[in-house]
Amino acid sequence: MKIADIKHAFVTGGASGIGLGAARGLAARGIAVTIADFNPDALADVLAEGIAKIRGVQMDVRDRAAWVKAKGDAEAAFGPVDLLISNAGIASVGYELADMDPESFDRIVGVNLFGAFNGISAFAADMRGRGRGHIVSTASIVGLASPKNGVGGNYVASKFGIVGLSEVLRLEMAPHGVGVSVLCPGYMATGNGRNPIRFANDSRKVAGLGDSPGGRVEDLVPRLLAGIEADDFYIISHCEHEWPNVERRSKELEMAFNGGDKYK
Ligand SMILES: NC(=O)c1ccc[n+]([C@@H]2O[C@H](COP(=O)([O-])OP(=O)(O)OC[C@H]3O[C@@H](n4cnc5c(N)ncnc54)[C@H](O)[C@@H]3O)[C@@H](O)[C@H]2O)c1
Repeated sequence: MKIADIKHAFVTGGASGIGLGAARGLAARGIAVTIADFNPDALADVLAEGIAKIRGVQMDVRDRAAWVKAKGDAEAAFGPVDLLISNAGIASVGYELADMDPESFDRIVGVNLFGAFNGISAFAADMRGRGRGHIVSTASIVGLASPKNGVGGNYVASKFGIVGLSEVLRLEMAPHGVGVSVLCPGYMATGNGRNPIRFANDSRKVAGLGDSPGGRVEDLVPRLLAGIEADDFYIISHCEHEWPNVERRSKELEMAFNGGDKYK
């Protein structure tokens, strides 16, 4: 979808990190933006900046009734939403699945994957009816191939789930002129690594993880906007060095299809 044709964007997790960068980038292009976020303090800080045409709603993306109300209020203020960026997410590191608190699994899959579905549920049918719109869900490079660095299996499962959800959505929406993308960043310098600390039992120290500085949101946002404009399905950023891991997975699949033994 041409960025110039977007009138109103709804961005979850928009009060911090990647979501905030996207909201700022869109607002700078004259687009009205509703940012939805769980964290009232971060939301208040953003709104205090007084950026033109940004409004905020405090909500939990797991809460389906909140989505219905937020959509109604947002569209009453700024008109139909033609870009949804489902980006709210929480991370998990350090616990192997065998040791993981089951509530941590529910929480992370609930926020990351169910949150993305709830956004689709709230907005996709209207976009299809209008014959225009674009839906981006933030997955991760770990949604394309599992990493070897201690990122939690609950997080990885949620991000693989977002890729699958989006692949189906792309097929369903394509005949109706609605674009679908998955944003797959590598490690970014945002608050994401600290967020699990707000939720008990999601995180413990993993040697080396998070020690690198990470990609910059201000470098990712132009890639995101260009990907929406070009209707790219995969929007990859700051993880080009992860290609060997994704290639290893693709080759293992290829060998299995060809009746091969274990990938060496
Ligand atoms: N930072 C990274 O290295 C990285 C890499 C790949 C993918 N991602 C993904 O990017 C997205 C954004 O993460 P970020 O790095 O900008 O982190 P961040 O913590 O800076 O931003 C995430 C925002 O989501 C909000 N949020 C959390 N739970 C919520 C809920 N239940 N309902 C509504 N809002 C909620 C938080 O309050 C926060 O403002 C996430 O989906 C994350 O998994 C991050």
